[in-house]
Amino acid sequence: MSQFWSNIVHDLTPYIPGEQPKTNNLVKLNTNENPYPPSPKAIKAIQGATDEALRLYPDPNSDILKQSITDYYHLENNQVFVGNGSDEVLAHTFQALLKHDKPLLFPDISYSFYPVYCGLYGLDYKTIPLNASFEIGVDDYHQDNGGIIFPNPNAPTGIGLPLESIENLLQQNPSSVVVVDEAYIDFGGTSAVPLINTYPNLLVVQTISKSRSLAGLRVGFAMGHPDLIQGLVRVKDSFNSYPLDRLATLGAAAAMGDKAYFTDICNRVINTRAKLTLQLEALGFEVLPSQANFVFIQHPKHRAENLAQALRDNNIIVRHFKAPRIDNYLRITVGTETECEQLIQALNTIIIKA
Ligand SMILES: Cc1ncc(COP(=O)(O)O)c(C=O)c1O
Repeated sequence: MSQFWSNIVHDLTPYIPGEQPKTNNLVKLNTNENPYPPSPKAIKAIQGATDEALRLYPDPNSDILKQSITDYYHLENNQVFVGNGSDEVLAHTFQALLKHDKPLLFPDISYSFYPVYCGLYGLDYKTIPLNASFEIGVDDYHQDNGGIIFPNPNAPTGIGLPLESIENLLQQNPSSVVVVDEAYIDFGGTSAVPLINTYPNLLVVQTISKSRSLAGLRVGFAMGHPDLIQGLVRVKDSFNSYPLDRLATLGAAAAMGDKAYFTDICNRVINTRAKLTLQLEALGFEVLPSQANFVFIQHPKHRAENLAQALRDNNIIVRHFKAPRIDNYLRITVGTETECEQLIQALNTIIIKA
């Protein structure tokens, strides 16, 4: 508390990111990073960009990166917006496209940054409960609203929504912007990007933090009708003209261009997830069907909070959310095969001992 804070700062409830430990003796399965290194082509591009040109400002439009995204998704330049992590892209989206007189709708169990942005930008919102199986029911969103946002696959559940349901939602809400946050889409979901040309109210947000192994570079992007993109650009150019530095722009463009490497590491994560799911089920866990690079699990006989602490004592960190309906669940990032073996061995010992 400080007398120097503005009123809005007094009222904020900031997002608490997962722990980034200062030591590297931990098996880190808590923030959904990719366990594999970035594409060697991305590293090379970043290294190649560390030269005297850094004295100059970067391209304010990051056109080289936009080109790599339009090539990948067969879009036009004016259908793409890029920002400093998809968190920044989402923040601008809340301010530019979702702040209206009616409440914004999102699931009760969802990315916990959404209510934080509502607090920051003064948006009214209403949460819509997931059903008992933790699925989104699109008909529940058929009500007066100022916009709709949800992750697909959802976080932290990992459960995906089929494209037909997203299309239904878009048809039921033609005068609201529908934002699909596809942070985890490349691990088995079906992207809504092909619907962009049909639905001018659809904005799809993606990141290179997860499936392209570049969380440290901070690059995210949005794709949608040029009018939506223009709204985002207006906010960006009233906030920071150069959100992406030269290294990030070139590194991200190279990663987008290296489709073979990207496909390989996504497949490795998907295969490990399948194996991990079976091993967790064999230990008695209920594992929600995941299309993401994490699993959301609970055990009928062990409290999630105690399991998280016991894993931490074994140098393994996972994520536990103290939130209604999910406080007995753990969200565990799919690591390498070796990391997942270590996890299973530790859980086996913890469960036998208890
Ligand atoms: C659902 C969802 N959206 C967006 C993000 C933000 O990703 P980034 O800012 O790294 O692009 C995350 C990060 O964990 C996420 O879980």
